[in-house]
Amino acid sequence: MSPSSPIVAIYPGSFDPMTKGHEDIARRTLRVADRLIIAVAYTATQQKQNLFTVEERVTVINEVFASDERVEAQAFEGLLVDFARDVGSRLVVRGLRAISDFEYEMQMAQMNQELSPEIETIFFVPEVEYSFLSSSLVRQVASLGGDVARFVSPPVLARLKEKYGA
Ligand code: PNS
Repeated sequence: MSPSSPIVAIYPGSFDPMTKGHEDIARRTLRVADRLIIAVAYTATQQKQNLFTVEERVTVINEVFASDERVEAQAFEGLLVDFARDVGSRLVVRGLRAISDFEYEMQMAQMNQELSPEIETIFFVPEVEYSFLSSSLVRQVASLGGDVARFVSPPVLARLKEKYGA
């Protein structure tokens, strides 16, 4: 990478669905990167039951960031480090909400380091108001009829309402 090359960061995850905490991490990343690819994984490291398809998640993330041309969501299959190489990025971004995230994040970052030493993982800490927020809690609260409007952006809220008929 030459000093004048644009910095392309990748923010990978499940984003099922994207929360305002994820959005906060994405916006923080744009303080240090010129472009951000939000990479929605077909294969998550932890077993999860998905609510939205990967395609639905990509579409809704692109809607959330429609006004910012620096941000684009893409789906990826297989290894993250291969995807990073394919899109010409050496910078993987993850959010760290609490100490409970640390072990899982360290494992993934170090595995990615082993697989591809040229790729760096950097962590951003979200605004404190989002430190408790997770996609799984949003899914659960929405599925039980709770109001999640302050935790997700309008395109995500609309999809949740469609899913749960609220
Ligand atoms: O939001 P998540 O589910 O915690 O994100 C995890 C994700 C998707 C970033 C991770 O599972 C991943 O990178 N999956 C792609 C497969 C891969 O590269 N695995 C090896 C590195 S751990």
